[in-house]
Amino acid sequence: MTKTDELQKIEKEILKLKKSPLYEYRTSNKYFPVIGEGSHDAHIMFIGEAPGKKEAETAKPFCGASGRVLDKLLASVGISRADVYVTNIVKDRPPENRDPSPDEILLYAPFLDRQIDILQPKVIATLGRFSMVYILKRFGIAADPISKAHGTVYTAKAPYGEVKIIPLYHQAAALYNGSMMTTLEEDFKQLAIHGIPKTT
Ligand code: URA
Repeated sequence: MTKTDELQKIEKEILKLKKSPLYEYRTSNKYFPVIGEGSHDAHIMFIGEAPGKKEAETAKPFCGASGRVLDKLLASVGISRADVYVTNIVKDRPPENRDPSPDEILLYAPFLDRQIDILQPKVIATLGRFSMVYILKRFGIAADPISKAHGTVYTAKAPYGEVKIIPLYHQAAALYNGSMMTTLEEDFKQLAIHGIPKTT
């Protein structure tokens, strides 16, 4: 199976995930699950929280206000959105954009684990607290609060080789707090250092 086949298999499974507490909300609103988008050969995988309204309407991750912040930050370090892969820990929209519940994270996380194994990113950039806590734990790293961990480069072992984990604040934070953008820009520099393949 190709990477595309394996990712499509995940999508099909999520489409019929009736046991999800978010299934009924998705179908009754004619929303889509948001599986992920980007290069299947990406060195960098971004992992957000859960889709918002716009994302659930279009099946595209980070296509609303937070997505515009993400695009700006990527541009600030010369990384193209087309060269990275963007997904979320929870693949369906929680009502009223509430935080994903621990049960929802538990239910959807195995799909994220499979995406990591399929795409084998060299850098995992977590966006916000929920994906940071999940990913650091999954790779056996004790989680510091995000106020301390943001911008730190953790090195971990994945079954396919070494992976760098870089926790970042969620882009939504920059929408409500202007000074957060400066912090995010500073932290994104780590992505340029660790996530751009060397050509020489
Ligand atoms: N916030 C997220 O965490 N993910 C999205 O896809 C959009 C907004």
